[in-house]
Amino acid sequence: MSDSIGEYLVSARSFAEYSAFFDLGEDDLRGSVLDCPGGGASFTATAASRGADAIAADPAYADPPAEVAARVRAEVDRGGAWVTARTGRYEWGFHHDPETLTRGRAESARLFAADITAHPDCYRFAALPELPFADEAFDLVLSSHFLFTYADRLDRDFHLAALRELRRVARGQVRVFPLVDQAGGRLDGLVDDLVRALTADDVRAERRRVPYEFQRGADTMLVLHPPGR
Ligand SMILES: C[S@@+](CC[C@H](N)C(=O)[O-])C[C@H]1O[C@@H](n2cnc3c(N)ncnc32)[C@H](O)[C@@H]1O
Repeated sequence: MSDSIGEYLVSARSFAEYSAFFDLGEDDLRGSVLDCPGGGASFTATAASRGADAIAADPAYADPPAEVAARVRAEVDRGGAWVTARTGRYEWGFHHDPETLTRGRAESARLFAADITAHPDCYRFAALPELPFADEAFDLVLSSHFLFTYADRLDRDFHLAALRELRRVARGQVRVFPLVDQAGGRLDGLVDDLVRALTADDVRAERRRVPYEFQRGADTMLVLHPPGR
């Protein structure tokens, strides 16, 4: 069975998933937050409805909102088929079963479609490792299921440049999840190497356990702290 999902999946995770795998508390969402890449996630829609100043960035937003929304709807089926063919690789405590997972992703895609249509300015075209935002523009920067997930095609230098860029646009923490690849492969050597390089930049980089595990063994996020903290 293939270990590559093929083209980047424009997936639609929910606010509840983000809250769990980034271990978010009420205080984390009081200011501005960047979700990069946002994909078809409903995080930005729900965070904004709870008072956060939330922006999502992704190269997929180059297309008009209606096209992005249609693509995300189709991607729910592609992602569901990938997981369903590999159920044994996952821990099902959070999502219960593939049908419940796919239903949840379809609901996230629906929330995403409504929000990108109503608030297109909150969904910015951008591609790492360069972001169109000022230094320290966001209180919190979140990045899920892109770095590390696609380590089969993004090399060490890309990861380092992208992490530095995410750090540049953050006033507070940068949180990255997961630290395994799309097939669930551990990337300890790559993570160690990046932590060393960031430490040499004077960035405190910490691996922190989170209350979420779906891909087996993927229960840790990388936290990049602001300078001096
Ligand atoms: C698996 S999705 C993750 C989306 C969302 N964070 C989630 O967890 O549902 C991967 C996303 O990475 C985006 N992507 C591809 N190349 C990128 C790049 N150079 N910079 C930022 N995002 C990129 C894709 O468009 C896709 O939406």
